[in-house]
Amino acid sequence: MAESVIPTGTDGAEPPLDGRIAALRDEARSALSATRDADGLQEWRNRYVGRSGEVTLLLRSVGSLPADERAAFGQAANRLKNELQASFDERESEITSAAGPAGAIDVTLSGRHPIRGRLHPITQTVREITSAFGAMGFQTFEGPEVELERYNFTAMNIPADHPARDMFDTFWLDRVDEDGDRSILLRTHTSPMQARIMESQEPPIRVVIPGRCYRYEATDASHEWHFYQVEVLAVDEGITFADLKGTLYEFARQVFGPECKVRFRCDFFPFVEPGVEMAVNCFNCDGDPACRICRGSGWLEIMGAGMVHPEVLRRAGYDPGRYTGFAAGMGVERVAMLKHGIEDIRHFYANDMRFLSQF
Ligand code: DAH
Repeated sequence: MAESVIPTGTDGAEPPLDGRIAALRDEARSALSATRDADGLQEWRNRYVGRSGEVTLLLRSVGSLPADERAAFGQAANRLKNELQASFDERESEITSAAGPAGAIDVTLSGRHPIRGRLHPITQTVREITSAFGAMGFQTFEGPEVELERYNFTAMNIPADHPARDMFDTFWLDRVDEDGDRSILLRTHTSPMQARIMESQEPPIRVVIPGRCYRYEATDASHEWHFYQVEVLAVDEGITFADLKGTLYEFARQVFGPECKVRFRCDFFPFVEPGVEMAVNCFNCDGDPACRICRGSGWLEIMGAGMVHPEVLRRAGYDPGRYTGFAAGMGVERVAMLKHGIEDIRHFYANDMRFLSQF
């Protein structure tokens, strides 16, 4: 290129014009490649190509040259200006695209996933259970966790001296009624809601009652001092044990899958007669004697149930000659443990995200 001519000036004198252009170009280029940010770019622009920048001044000096030199020098200085402007634009886009938020956005980066909240596995299981019954026409109710002894025990056909009270290790509240009885407690099961609902409405009744219960027990892999139950109650004229079996079987198929099998065996609960325990087939084996989940039986118990005891109906003000009903109660943690193969109930309440985020 014409302007790359090496300066040929003698020592101490002004270098020839072409040489001044070449020197300015070298200087401006190396200053440009040393710029690192927007401030540096602005400074560079002021210094070289701005209104009083060196290249601009060089161009203005054309008029003071001898006439025969003006054209060639003017062209060379203009080329320099254009060339530096192009280099500036290039450098500017390099710097801004590397500058992050203040500069260009890299649309090719993959997105950041926010951590999404979710329902606690027990809440999810409660909803699954209540909606399985909801599909069969059952309404969901809730009741008090701090309960009167009268509902928790007496109304459920467990009088004060009844040995069945030993089944329920109870947290009593530090408060006595006029007779000096300790009459307020943390409910040991959701069954007292059967009595509260029957007292407040007439049959037909079809309800499910999820809720937290408390027992004064040592904790281990299968016991917590607080846990959830879902109570089931249906009362009407002509309800039979066949309704109990059909309803609970359908529930099991909804929650454990259509292949689920159920087994009913006699059991005792003071508030039902006859009473049963319902089991579902072991999800882990087919009756393998070595299975540690069902201990070789092939069955896993999931709830107590039975026909509502005539005494419970009578205490609630219903005529047991006219109405019959069935009831059931299940532990929600147990259902969740069987569904998901969880081996320790304490995981549910340890608030460990590594556990909770699996559900
Ligand atoms: N309330 C019982 C318990 O906590 C469970 C139960 C058994 C509830 C049989 C029922 C029933 O409604 O019919 O152990």
